[in-house]
Amino acid sequence: MSISEMGVRPAAPPRRTMRALRDRRDELTSRVALGDQAAVERQHRLGKRTARERLDLLLDEGSFVEIDLHRKGSTGAATDGVVAGSGTVEGRRVFVYAQDFTIAGGSLGAAHAAKIHKVLDLALDTGSPVVALNDSGGARIQEGVLALDGYGGIFRRQVEASGVIPQIAVVLGPCAGGAAYSPALADFTFMVRDTAQMYLTGPDVVRAVSGERVTHDQLGGADVHGGRSGVASFVHDDEESCFADVRYLLSLLPGNNLEPPPAAADRGPGDDLRPALADLVPVEPNQPYDMRAVIGELVDDGEFLEVHEGWAGNVVCALARIAGEVVGVVGNQPLVLAGVLDTSASQKAARFVRFCDAFGIPLVTLVDVPGFLPGTEQEHGGAIRHGAKLLYAYCEASVPRVQVILRKAYGGAYIVMDSRSIGCDLSLAWPTNEIAVMGAEAAVNVVHRKQLAAAPDPAELRAVLVAQYADELMHPYYAAERGLVDDVIDPAETRSAIARGLAMLRDKRRRPPARKHGNVPL
Ligand code: HXC
Repeated sequence: MSISEMGVRPAAPPRRTMRALRDRRDELTSRVALGDQAAVERQHRLGKRTARERLDLLLDEGSFVEIDLHRKGSTGAATDGVVAGSGTVEGRRVFVYAQDFTIAGGSLGAAHAAKIHKVLDLALDTGSPVVALNDSGGARIQEGVLALDGYGGIFRRQVEASGVIPQIAVVLGPCAGGAAYSPALADFTFMVRDTAQMYLTGPDVVRAVSGERVTHDQLGGADVHGGRSGVASFVHDDEESCFADVRYLLSLLPGNNLEPPPAAADRGPGDDLRPALADLVPVEPNQPYDMRAVIGELVDDGEFLEVHEGWAGNVVCALARIAGEVVGVVGNQPLVLAGVLDTSASQKAARFVRFCDAFGIPLVTLVDVPGFLPGTEQEHGGAIRHGAKLLYAYCEASVPRVQVILRKAYGGAYIVMDSRSIGCDLSLAWPTNEIAVMGAEAAVNVVHRKQLAAAPDPAELRAVLVAQYADELMHPYYAAERGLVDDVIDPAETRSAIARGLAMLRDKRRRPPARKHGNVPL
C-alpha cells in the first residue's frame, strides 16, 4: 500500500530548499550559457554580439523558450555551441537557433547539429518560420564525417520545409565551406558588414590553388554577396539594424503556406487618389525616373521592404501592403540600365516571384521595360536560360496577379513581365503606355530599310513613318481593344485600381495539374 493510499500526504519540500534548488539551477545555467569570458570579450571587441544577446534583439522580451540547454557534445560544454529554441516576434511564434562562436568557434558537431535538426522539425511540425543565426567555423574538424553528416541533415530538412515555412538566415560571422549552403537554401539571407563572410573555399585555399591573394571580406563579405553574387538578400551595417529588419520581414510573412499573409489590423483606405504618380513618371520614354518612388506612392504609408537592394538594381522587388494586404511588388527600374532585363535581374525577380507564390502573397508587377540587355556577355552568360526562369516563375504562379504598364512594354520583356498572355489576372495600363514589339524608330528601321535607303531625304521619310507607326500601333487602346489590357486608367487611380483588383481576386483558387513537379529551368 502506497503512502497516498494510506491517506498520508507527502510533505512539501521546505521553501528554503526550493529556493536553493532554483538558485543552484540559475547558477548552473549562467555557467553553461556562454563560452569563457575571454571568448565573450573577443566577440564584443570584434563588434559582434553573443548568441543570447542576438536572441534578445530578435525576439519579444522574455519570450524565448530554450531547448537542449544542457546537451553536450565533443566540446564538453553545455549547448554544444548553439542556443536553440523558440520565441515570438510581435507575438507570432518563430523557431530559432543561434550559433555561439564563443564555444569552439560555433563549429558544428553531431550534438550541435542534432539540436538544429530538432528546431527545424519543430518549426515544420508547428508551421512556424525558422530563423538561423550563423556564426561558425563550420564543420567541427575533430568530429570528421559526423559533422558533415550533421550538415546533410540540416540541408535535407531545409529543402523539405521549403515553400512550407519561411526560412530566414542571418549571417553574423564566418560561414565557410558547405555550411554556406544552409543560408543559400533559405528564402532570405541577411549579412552584416565587416563581420559576416560566406565562401566555399577560404582565402588560404584560393591562394594555394590559383595564387590569388584576397581578404576574407574581398572574397565573401556582405557587400560582395549583397552587390555582386546575389547570395545576400539584405545587407546591414550593424546587428541592431539587421535584427530590426528581420522583425519587419517576419511581420510581412505568414507562419506557413496554409496561412494567409498577415493583413494589417487597420487596413487603411484603398481608394485614395495619388496625383503625384503622374509627375513621377516622365512621358518621354527615354527619361529615367526612380521606380522606388512610384512604389512608395502606391503602398500603405509609403513603406516597403526592398529585397536585394544592392544587386540587379534594374529590377526592384519589394514586400509591402496595399490597403492592409501584403503584396510582392516587382518593377523595372528605369534608373539602372534603363530598366532592361538581364541575367541577374531575371534570377532576382524569378526567385522573388516563386517565394511570393509559395506563401500566398499576391503579385503586383509594374512594367516599364525597353527589352533584354543585348550583347555577347549576356547571351554567353545564359540570358535565355535565366530569362526562362522568370517566365516560368510567373507562368506557374497561382496567387492573384496584377500587372500595371506605366510606360514602355517592348517585345519579349513585356510578355515576361506578367503579361495577360502568361496569366496575369488583371492588366492595367496608363494612357502613356507603349506596348509594342519594339520602339517606333527601331521598328521603322527594320520594316522600311529598303525604302529608307532609296529615299532622297531618309530623315524626313523616317519621321513620317515613325509617326505613322506610333499612331497605328502604340496608342493606349491598341492592346485594350484586343483584350490584352483590361483597362486604361488615370495614373492617380493606380493604387485604388490595384486595391480593387486584389479584393476581386482574394478568393482566387487555381490548382496546378497533378505531377511530381515541373522542370523549372534552374
Ligand atoms: C573546430 C574550430 C573550428 C572548426 C574554429 N574553431 N573553427 N574548431 N572546428 N571548424 C575553434 C578554433 O580552434 C578556436 O578554438 C576557436 O574556434 C576560435 O577560432 P579562431 O580561429 O581563434 O577564430 P578567428 O581567428 O576569428 O578565425 C575564425 C575562422 C577560423 C576564420 C572561422 O577559425 C577558421 O578558419 N576555422 C576553420 C574554418 C574551416 O575550414 N572550417 C571547415 C569548413 S568546411 P580555441 O580553443 O583556440 O579558442 C565545412 C564543411 C561543411 O564546414 C560541409 C557541409 C556539407
